[in-house]
Amino acid sequence: MTFPIEERESSVHPAAKGVYITTYGCQMNVNDTERMYSLLEMADYHPVETPDEASLIIINSCSVREKPVHKVHSEVGRYRKMKEANPNLRIGVGGCVAQQEKTKLLKDIPMLDFVFGTDAIDKLPSIVSEVEASDEKVNSTKFLHNQPYQVETLIRNPGVSTFVNITKGCDNFCTFCVVPFTRGRERSRKLSELISDINGLVRRGVKEVTLLGQNVNSYKSDCGAGFGDLMKAVAEDTDILRIRYTTSHPKDFNQELVDISQKYRDKICDYIHLPVQCGNSQVLDRMNRGYTREEYLQKVAMIKETIPGVAFSTDIIVGFPGETEEQFQETLSLIEEVQYDGIYAFKYSPRPFTKAAKWEDHLSEAEKSERLERVFALQRPIALKLAQQCIGQTYEVLIEEVEDDGFCIGRNTQNRKVKFLGNNNKSGDLVMVRVEQARPSLLQGKMLLDQ
Ligand code: 5AD
Ligand code: SF4
Repeated sequence: MTFPIEERESSVHPAAKGVYITTYGCQMNVNDTERMYSLLEMADYHPVETPDEASLIIINSCSVREKPVHKVHSEVGRYRKMKEANPNLRIGVGGCVAQQEKTKLLKDIPMLDFVFGTDAIDKLPSIVSEVEASDEKVNSTKFLHNQPYQVETLIRNPGVSTFVNITKGCDNFCTFCVVPFTRGRERSRKLSELISDINGLVRRGVKEVTLLGQNVNSYKSDCGAGFGDLMKAVAEDTDILRIRYTTSHPKDFNQELVDISQKYRDKICDYIHLPVQCGNSQVLDRMNRGYTREEYLQKVAMIKETIPGVAFSTDIIVGFPGETEEQFQETLSLIEEVQYDGIYAFKYSPRPFTKAAKWEDHLSEAEKSERLERVFALQRPIALKLAQQCIGQTYEVLIEEVEDDGFCIGRNTQNRKVKFLGNNNKSGDLVMVRVEQARPSLLQGKMLLDQ
């Protein structure tokens, strides 16, 4: 599907109705919500700030961990009075919970008018008009396994930095993860389409793209190009200034990728989100991650050696079924060894359809909470120490936001947020900043004037 975005009307059509979308979960969902707004705008819906202004409410749901499922139920509950007062109000649930629960969600929540899955976003305008035309409930949750993944990035205000989906779905079936069931089989977009998509974004003022997928480094275009070829092509054949990517899987991270990152270091950022999940090889095996502790550490060492100064972040799950205290301690020692800039740590949460959920050796909530706290307690001083090592360093910063008082906020290549007083700068400028103060979440410094 292609739409010449620049040519779309930006003014609100007189007959336009209000749409309100809430988004849970990952960046993939944030991107999907943008797509929904863009598609609905073409169908004469305009975004509204609050649900009571809307004639259409959509919850873009996430089911990667348990709580977000509950959030959908409680959020729909909050709209009960509005729905009773306005029978023309339509409420739908999209995203991973919709894909997972399908018609069960329609049965459990009678107030809902429609559910649509992760492959049904492009059909949203027709689903909505069907729901508006009748009182029938609509369930659109089929996967399009056999169709190529062809989508142009639809984003209303891309700004300086934006996300571009390169793959959808996942075939890895980690034993804790619901994503292969909610996002379906892995499919890659064509390399040539991605290049013209990114060139289109550059024409709209975008300076930085983050290539997005559940497992970006298993990208495979139909012409045979892999993720390394894609990064090379984005670096060579587009005028984008910076390239990021997320999420990469340790089992698919190889020397070729590191060499390409090094060769195009002026564009490919020195920051890698490399989820390890756990530091013990037996647990990793039970998770079906496809690498051992030693292999993970070897890859980290290889990357650090080729790209000195590279920053890492990771995802960690504590309290996976059967995880012993000794095995957990190996996660702690791995954290100490790698020295991550940032860690996203979660308590294991049993998910429907997944293998691990069926095992019997689950840990108690109290044990999981205690381990989670120990991860945070270990990471806090590491994050602070790494941030403070930035003091005195000079970094190239891409400005993403300029505040009214002239302060600029941007990020360095290692993905650290940097704040400094600008000199009539605008977003999109690349400037050099010397860091004077540092917290893990923010560096502050002075912009160098003679650059
Ligand atoms: N329980 C806890 N965390 C999970 N994640 C995925 N599935 C689960 C689960 N069942 C975490 C992983 C993944 C991140 C996106 O969410 O760490 O990398
Ligand atoms: Fe889930 Fe594993 Fe796929 Fe990541 S690689 S989305 S954790 S199954």
